[in-house]
This record gives sequence, C-alpha cells and structure tokens, in this order.
Amino acid sequence: MATSAPLWPEAAMPPLPHDSAHLHVAGLARYVDDEPELPGTLHLAFGLSSEARARIVGIDLDAVRAFPGVVAVYTAADIPGENNVGPIAHDDRVLADGEVISHGQPVFLVAAETRLAARKAARLGKVTYAPLKAAITVEQARAAGQRLEADQRMARGDATSALAAAEHRLAGSLRIGAQDHFYLEGQIAHARPVEDGQVHVVSSSQHPSEVQHLVAHLLGKSSADVTVEVRRMGGAFGGKESQAALFAAAAALVVHHTGRPAKFRCDRDDDMIVTGKRHDFEVDYEAGHDAEGRLKAVKLRFGGRCGATMDLSPGINDRTMFHADNCYFLPEVEILSERLKTNTVSATAFRGFGGPQGMLAIERVCDAVAARLGLDPLDVRQRNLYGPGRDVTPYGMTIEDNIAPQIIARLRETSRYDARRQAIAAFNAGSPVLKKGIALTPVKFGISFTTTHLNQAGALVHVYADGSIQANHGGTEMGQGLHIKIAQIVADVFGVGVEAVRITATRTDKVPNTSATAASSGADLNGMAARRAAMAIRERMADFLAGVFGCAADEVRFTPEGVIAGEARLTFAEAARKAWLGRISLSSTGFYATPEIEYDRATHCGRPFYYFAYGAAVSEVVVDTLTGEHKVLAVDILHDVGRSLNPAIDRGQIEGGFVQGQGWLTTEVVEWDAKGRLLNHSPATYKVPTASDRPKRLTIDLWDGENVKPTIHRSKAVGEPPLMLANSVFCAISAAIAATAPDVRDLPKLDAPATPEAVLRAIAGLRG
Ligand code: MTE
Ligand code: MOS
Repeated sequence: MATSAPLWPEAAMPPLPHDSAHLHVAGLARYVDDEPELPGTLHLAFGLSSEARARIVGIDLDAVRAFPGVVAVYTAADIPGENNVGPIAHDDRVLADGEVISHGQPVFLVAAETRLAARKAARLGKVTYAPLKAAITVEQARAAGQRLEADQRMARGDATSALAAAEHRLAGSLRIGAQDHFYLEGQIAHARPVEDGQVHVVSSSQHPSEVQHLVAHLLGKSSADVTVEVRRMGGAFGGKESQAALFAAAAALVVHHTGRPAKFRCDRDDDMIVTGKRHDFEVDYEAGHDAEGRLKAVKLRFGGRCGATMDLSPGINDRTMFHADNCYFLPEVEILSERLKTNTVSATAFRGFGGPQGMLAIERVCDAVAARLGLDPLDVRQRNLYGPGRDVTPYGMTIEDNIAPQIIARLRETSRYDARRQAIAAFNAGSPVLKKGIALTPVKFGISFTTTHLNQAGALVHVYADGSIQANHGGTEMGQGLHIKIAQIVADVFGVGVEAVRITATRTDKVPNTSATAASSGADLNGMAARRAAMAIRERMADFLAGVFGCAADEVRFTPEGVIAGEARLTFAEAARKAWLGRISLSSTGFYATPEIEYDRATHCGRPFYYFAYGAAVSEVVVDTLTGEHKVLAVDILHDVGRSLNPAIDRGQIEGGFVQGQGWLTTEVVEWDAKGRLLNHSPATYKVPTASDRPKRLTIDLWDGENVKPTIHRSKAVGEPPLMLANSVFCAISAAIAATAPDVRDLPKLDAPATPEAVLRAIAGLRG
C-alpha cells in the first residue's frame, strides 16, 4: 500500500461535468422510486400523532385494517428487536410506544397494495390521548428545564471581567430560524426479502452503514443479514444523514412480517412534518471593545431548539460553538450552548451542521460594534481577524492555514467594495423608500467530523482484464459530484480517461463500516481511500510488468499516452490483460484515516479539524422599506477549495450553497403553532429560493492556493462552507435597513430569516 507522501500530478484536474449529468437532464438517472417493483410490493404510510406531548390511552385501528387494499397494520408491539432509529442515543422510536413526544410522530404503520390506499387508511386510525404539558419554544423548554444534555461551555480567559473592564460594551439578541432541506427527492426506501431472513434495502440515505445497523437491531438480526444500497439521492443536504433510517426501518419491518417487498415513499407534507430540520436558535450576546472596534471580550449564549430526541444535536450544537469565532480572534470569550428539548420534531443535520448559526452570531456582533462606533463593518471585521500572535481558537487549536486576511483584502479590492459603498451611501441619501446595503463577510469552516473516529473511509477498486475499472467507496452521491471526483482520482492513478472508470452504487457489502457522507469530507476521506486502493493495484502491475520487460518497477509509468515499461509501450488494456494472464490480483481495498486530529469534548479543547476552508462574499441588496421586500443585486464570491479536484463541480457547490444559505436567511420560514403543529409543510407555505431569487449578478472566483495539508491532490472540502457566504446577504439587508435611520447608532434588531415582516419590524424598531 502506498502510504508515502503522495505526489500529485502537475496538471490541474479538469472541470468535467457531473458523471450523471446526461442522465439527470434526460430523466434517466435512477432514483429509489425508479427501481422496478417486484410483484407483490407493498406500499406504506404512517399514522401520525395529533398531539405534541401525550400519553397514548388507546389505539383503535379496526377501520384502518378494514380499508380496501390494506394488508397489515403495525404498532410498536410488532417490532421484534429494538424500536429505535436514533443515531447516538436510543431515543428515536420508529413507532410511538406508550407516549408521543411531538406532533406528527409516527404512531402506527400501514402496509397496503397501493400507496393511495395506505395513505387514506392511515387517516382512519383512532388514537386516544391524555395530553401532557408540552414545551414548544426555546423559552418554554428553558422554563421547564427540558434539556437533552447538560449545557456546554467553551471559554478562554475571564470574559466577565474583561467585559467589565472594556472601554465600550454592548449587548443584544438575535433569533435565527430553522430550515427545511427541501430535497427534490423526498424520503424513500425500498426493502426486499432475500433468502434465509436476510433483507436488502435500497435507501435514499447519506449513511448506508447506519441504516444497516439500525435495521439489523430493529429486526433482531446481525449486520451481516442486512445489505443497504444507495445509488444516488435527489438531494439530501444533511436531511438524510440520520432521518432516512426511519423509512428504511419501516420498510424492513414490513418485509420481515409479510415476506413481501415493501416501499415507503413519503408524501411531501408528511416528509416535512415527520423529519427534522436545521436547528433554530435564540442567541444573546455581549461584547466589550475598544474605540477602533477591536473585540476584547465576547459572551455568547446559544439556546438551540433541538426537538424531542437527541438525534445529532450534541455534535451540531458543538459545531455552533466551534464556529462562533468565525475568522476572528476573541481574546476573552465565553460561549454557552443550551441543548433544549422541545416537543417538536427532532432537529437534525443541515449543510453547515450548526456552524452557520454560530457564524451569523459573531457577524452580527461585528455589525453591532461598527454601528455603535459609526465605522465601516468591514474595517471592524478586518481589525479582528486572526493573525500572527493571535491565532489560537477558543477551543485551543492553533490556526496554521489562515488565509482569511488575504482573501478579504483581495475581494475588497476586486469587488470595488469601497467605491460601491460610497455610491450606495449617495443613493440612499437621495432615495426615501428604496434603500441599498452592501456587506462583505468571510467564512472559515473547520473540516473533519468533530467526532474523531468518524474520520475514516474505505474503497474497493477492480481493474478488469479488458482495462475497464470499477471503483466503489463508502461515500454516497447526493448531487454534490463526489462520484465524478473519485472517478477522476482513480483515472489519474492509472493514466486513463475518466470514462474508463465506472463508479458503482454504494453498498454495505462492498465497503463496510462507513461514516455518513457528511461534514463535507466525502472527497477528502473516500478520495484518499480510493487512491490508495488504485495505487495498490498499480504497484502490483508495475512490479509484474517490470519483470516481463526487464526494467525496474519505478521505470513503469502509467501515462495518458499509455503504460510505459522500459522500452515497451502498451495500452492500459494490454497491460491489464497481461497482468491477468500473469495471475496478478487486480482488485484492492483502500483505507484512509485523517491524521493529527484529536479532541476532548469534556473540556472542549483540542484540534478537532485537520484544516479550514475559507471564503468571502460581498453582497449588495436593495430593500423596499414600505413593503419590506428585497432583491439581491450583485454578489461577488472568492472561495478557497485548495487545488480543486474539479473546478466545475466546485463552482456548482459554491453557487448552490450560497443560494441555499440565502434562502435560509431570507425566505424560508419554519414555524410551529402553540400546539406544536408545523405551519410550513408544503411549497405553498414554505418558500425556497427560485431562479428569480438568484442574484442578478453572481461572480465566483476560486482562490488559487493549495491546501497546506497533504489532502487528496491538496484539495479542500467544498460541500458546506459556501452556504455561510450568504451571511453577507443578511448583513447587507441589515445595512439597508439601518439607512432608514442614519442617526441611530444601533444595529437594527433583525431576526433571521429577513422576511418582509421581519424587515418591517426592524425598520419600525429603529424608528421606535
Ligand atoms: N450538494 C448537492 N447537490 N446536494 C446535496 O444534498 N449536501 C451538502 C453538500 N452539497 C448536498 C450538496 C452537504 S450537507 C454535505 S455535508 C456535502 O455536500 C456532502 O458531500 P461531500 O462530503 O462529498 O462534499
Ligand atoms: Mo452535511 S449537514 O454534513 O450532511
């Protein structure tokens, strides 16, 4: 196995299109629902709780059973093994057992001959409840003392004394809203019986190994009896990291009892009601600073609405704390994080994994300092950046790759920030109703799972005797372009064109014990594992060919012009065939574990990240101060992907991430009513950004540096960091609002998302 420091090719990796692009546009890419159905396939639906919190007094399912087409109805009592799909704690019931803890929680499961019959029958269940006192909001959970785990504290120095001693002090609060993933392909799973009690599950999941384990436990079987397969997802965004397991578990349960294949394609409204979202937060901040806006002390408190179960909330809320510094050195700091247990659907992973909320908070602190001092917020930001002698994070990690200062300085210049800010001030002075705003905000995002053991990956590469190659790895494809990147990495090892490499569906029987494709590390981890697998085969081939052609093994080279062995020149196919005839193994696994990282969660200290990905964006907006509506006029992005594995894919990730962040901070409202019922559960009431919301002008430039760490091709992860570039939109809207009251030396009290209502409230507050 090649473990020595890899030598990356001189040539940059090409901007190839997504390997499935031609299938996507032709409607030929197969998703779970496109899998041919075997005869006898059953279709499933859940009966959902009508209460936020209650004891179940009685369940009468006679009418459900009697409905034409219904084959079986199951409750918690029908689960042979563990009634759980929770990823960390075992507190996520597949079907409610004795009590319900959120509105919309599945109580019973219907299996019918058709999907419509299952859905109609599910409405006929009569469940009697004895309601209990529910906590829906952060305040209610706080008052009731409902917490998922102890409050966490990350601190350096003595923020309280430093605040008291500071020249200037300010305090404020901010609500940061949740977000629904709104993947185009909803939650779905298709399970089939295999012989001898084994089950095969085709799932739309970011985490096939976890689905495998949870299904095995549910059925009281071993992992070896369950195979999970994922060809691709029609978008996931974190929403299928843990949440896909529920549907796979339900389908597997029906297979277990009926011996028939079962498919669960969740209806969009149910999908939005039943599955978790991004955490929303109540944030309180206090800051002490000097007359130039340099932060001396910062105190932050994050009250996170975690929902009714643990899910991934500890890690997500930890990441909020990890990113509450963003690019800024906070000399004395205290970050408190409350993980509040509310009787709402359990909040879950969403692109950024809690980081965006932490980052937005500190950006608002910067804005508040600037407003108080009458300074340009960008000057305040730049004065507070990490730099020499001020390069240790609140969690004790020394930053070795800080390029935020250069990225910001370059973007300030290339976007003509200063000239445009002046022009905007002149425009605003002469425009009573329309107000413009501009903001530049940076991003520094830590790359690695903060749960150290998850930073591992495996791959399996086969070279066939005709020179074609299959590559398989533990990562899943959700549209982010992971498979094309892996194919490029493998093709590069053998010197062949990418079309020679076929990436096959992710399967737990090919690569075992995988981590979720998450934390943006899909390409970092699986790319390195795939490269090592390919290198192992290449070295075997080189040794063999060296013997055949009488040269040294290091004189065998795999180039785009073919395989060169001493004086001989062969096509790759000829080389593969020769090796096969010579009885050389042309198949290998590869494994990778991220080096250097370690983290002590008890003290919130260590080096949780292998490196950081950076970026910055300038957004210019115009706000109609009578209606509260806004338009994003222009956005300039400079983003760091190291040495790109595929510039076309990376640009797509940057644009998509940015617009998704824009939606989170402007139009996407998630609200529960007093009874804990979700109010936004279809596109009619939940507004994701559309093509018309894309900034009128959007420029994306890639930073031309390479990763200081020996990552795969010295690239950097790109999946999540760009989402946080959209903080610039929020801050620009705030700046436009501030222009309605130029004499007020205070930050508009703007909550996220900046809907027209929120904007009007902020304007009224300023004038107030
Ligand atoms: N891009 C698309 N098109 N669809 C997705 O679902 N998920 C995002 C990001 N980009 C997502 C996406 C999230 S939340 C993560 S963690 C990464 O992709 C995961 O893939 P990677 O690790 O291969 O970047
Ligand atoms: Mo992404 S939130 O880490 O799946």
